Amino acid sequence: MKNGDFPEDAKNRAKKILDACKGGSVGSYSESPGLLAIREDIAAYIAKRDGHPSNASDIIMSTGASDGIKAIITLLLTGKDGSGKAGIMIPVPQYPLYSAVIAEFNAYPIRYYLNEENQWSLDVSELKHAISEARAHCVPRAIVVINPGNPTGQVLTRQNIEDVIRFAKEEGLFILADEVYQHNIYAKGSKFFSFKQVMKEMGEPYSSMELASFMSASKGFMGECGYRGGYAEVINLDPQVKLQYMKSISAKLCPPVSGQAVMDVIVNPPQPHEPSYKLFEKEKEFVLAQLREKETGICTVPGSGFGEKEGTYHFRITILPPQEELREEQADDLNTSTSSLQSVHWHHRAANTAVVSDVHKYVSEELTE
Ligand SMILES: Cc1ncc(COP(=O)(O)O)c(C=O)c1O
Repeated sequence: MKNGDFPEDAKNRAKKILDACKGGSVGSYSESPGLLAIREDIAAYIAKRDGHPSNASDIIMSTGASDGIKAIITLLLTGKDGSGKAGIMIPVPQYPLYSAVIAEFNAYPIRYYLNEENQWSLDVSELKHAISEARAHCVPRAIVVINPGNPTGQVLTRQNIEDVIRFAKEEGLFILADEVYQHNIYAKGSKFFSFKQVMKEMGEPYSSMELASFMSASKGFMGECGYRGGYAEVINLDPQVKLQYMKSISAKLCPPVSGQAVMDVIVNPPQPHEPSYKLFEKEKEFVLAQLREKETGICTVPGSGFGEKEGTYHFRITILPPQEELREEQADDLNTSTSSLQSVHWHHRAANTAVVSDVHKYVSEELTE
């Protein structure tokens, strides 16, 4: 704190967090939902983002978003077998945490397919179809929506979100809005709307529906995944259920306090009038520019890892050539690393799979023999 190398606003933030810690150290346990001072900063961030109030008592911090998602799914279980199992609607393709947790908890996955032909959008007719098929096998209790999507990258329109909320209301479903990629909006014309904002603006009866929205320290330009910071904003929860929720998280003591501190830095960045603002903006721009440009190899994940329609064969390819090579390729006026892409493309053709891939894309063609 006495070191003159650090700007005063950075030191003030650190001091505020340390003062909130027992014994003035991040090495002590915090309250189970997280330090109140940090939850207040998160609530202020959400209120500013959405233009609607947020309450620190609705913020439950977690060990990454994963742990928060698991904690909410636990609350939705029926404890029954067979057709009495809790049905949780999940997108296909989806981030595989959901299918894994559903399997671990003996719940029933109600898979709904995203519409690849319309940029992986979410069709309510598909939701209706999926839920009516599943009724014989489970008791539908919740819907998971990943927005922006992983692995598909789609950003839902406000209209699309309203349609999902209406559907969830009609079906009496709890909404789990996985919004961990809320800072990763790159496509022109796309805008992030939180489920909470849309629900609030739709008015009653939608504004009092139960909702959990998840956020993480792992994504965006921060990408501090190893700190395991995350939180859920959980609104309109039945008080008796909330009581059980609080009891269950208290058994885990608390999420890592260092991860909580990282989350605070994300939701409470330097402001234009503060001394570290310029440096922060410079570093942020640098990281974002690197993310756009600099990478280190090709990362391929088979579509089976995310789920896919029967008879379709996908893989997600992220192309990561070194920055210099990328520049050379661009200078040659070639499509980014066409040669590398082609080798993967042909490899898959040889495996009797027709795949059209693109940088950071998740696409396929149906097999035509
Ligand atoms: C859609 C989605 N949700 C949740 C998570 C989990 O994030 P965390 O590292 O905060 O547990 C990920 C991680 O990749 C993800 O892609």
